[in-house]
Amino acid sequence: MNDINWSDLSFSYMKTDYNVRCYYRDGKWGELEVHSSDQVSIHMAATGLHYGQEAFEGLKAFKGQDGKTRLFRIEENAKRMYNSAVGTMMAEIPEDIFVNAVLKAVELNKRFVPPYESGASLYIRPLLVGTGAKIGVAPTDEYLFMVFVMPVGPYFKEGFKPTNMMISRKYDRAAPLGTGNIKVGGNYAASLRAGYEAHEKGYSAVLFLDSKEKKYIDECGPANFFGIKDNTYVTPKSDSILPSITNMSLCQLAEDMGMTVERRPIPYDELSTFAEAGACGTAAVISPIGQIDDVEDSNSFVFSKDGKPGEVSEKLYNKLRAIQYGDEPDTHGWVTIV
Ligand code: PLP
Ligand code: COI
Repeated sequence: MNDINWSDLSFSYMKTDYNVRCYYRDGKWGELEVHSSDQVSIHMAATGLHYGQEAFEGLKAFKGQDGKTRLFRIEENAKRMYNSAVGTMMAEIPEDIFVNAVLKAVELNKRFVPPYESGASLYIRPLLVGTGAKIGVAPTDEYLFMVFVMPVGPYFKEGFKPTNMMISRKYDRAAPLGTGNIKVGGNYAASLRAGYEAHEKGYSAVLFLDSKEKKYIDECGPANFFGIKDNTYVTPKSDSILPSITNMSLCQLAEDMGMTVERRPIPYDELSTFAEAGACGTAAVISPIGQIDDVEDSNSFVFSKDGKPGEVSEKLYNKLRAIQYGDEPDTHGWVTIV
C-alpha cells in the first residue's frame, strides 16, 4: 500500500480491500454483502456469459483539498444502469441500492482514494450480470450486482495533452436501433478489433462514423466527441452513442460560460471547421484531440499544431475538475460527499 505512486497511476486494475455485492433471487434484491476476494463463482450457463446479459457503469470519487471525498453525479449513473437493465431484460437495480453499494465500496476502501495533490481519483465500477443458468435465448431470473473500486490516473497516456484518433470505416460499434445508447459489454466487444488496429497504427482510439450512412460523427472510443468553433460547443446527437454524463455536464458548463451548445448530427465534412476537438467521459475526462486521420480516405483533420490543448477545452477541463475536487462551489448540485 505504501508503495502506490499516486502521481504515476495509469488506468488499470488494482485489487483494493473490499467489494460490495447484492444478489437478485426469487424476484427480489437481497442485502448488501461485503467481500474481500476479487473472484466470483458463476454458473457455466449464466446468461451473462452466453447471451450478453451484462451492464456496467463508471464513476469517480475525488479527494479535495479539504480532505473530503466527493462523488460526481452518482444519480445519473444509477439511472443509466437502470436503463441498461431495461434494454437487456435484466432485473433493474433500484437507485437506493445502487447509491448505497457505491457509498459503501468507497467508504470501505477510503485508503485507496488518491490524495488531492496527485490529480488521480478512485474509479468505481458497478457491474450487473445475469447469473442464472439458461441455454435457450431468454432472460434469466437471477442477477448479481457488484461494485469494486481502484485508484486510477489518466485513461489516455497523454493525460490532458492532445492525442490522435483514427476514423475507421471498416467496423461499426453499434447499430442505429441497437444497444449503443446503453452501457453493455457487447458494445465494447464490438469495438475491440477496431481499437486494436488503431493502437497498432499509433492512435489512441477510433472515431466511429454512424453505422447507417457513414456520414456523421458518432462515438469516440470509450467517450463522446465534441467540437468547438465560434463560441459554440457542438456534440453529436445519435441513437447509437452513450449518453455521457461528462458531456451532459460540459454542455451545462459551456452554457454557463456564455457559449452556445448544439447537440445535433455532425457531418464528417464539418470536422474541418472545428478550432478544437476532444473526447469526453469519466475515464477520459477531457482528452483534447490533436489530429484525426481518416486512414482509408487519406484525409486528416488537425486541431492542435503545437501539442497543446485548445483554450476553450482547457477552460472546460479546469472548471469540471474544480467542481469535482471541491475547489469551486457545486452550483448545480452534482456532488455527493461520502
Ligand atoms: N461513450 C462510451 C462508449 C463510454 O464507454 C463512456 C464511458 O462511460 C462514455 C461515452 C462517457 O460517459 P460518461 O461521461 O458518463 O462516463
Ligand atoms: C468510463 O469512462 O467510465 C468508461 O466506462 C470508459 C471505459 C473505461 C470503458
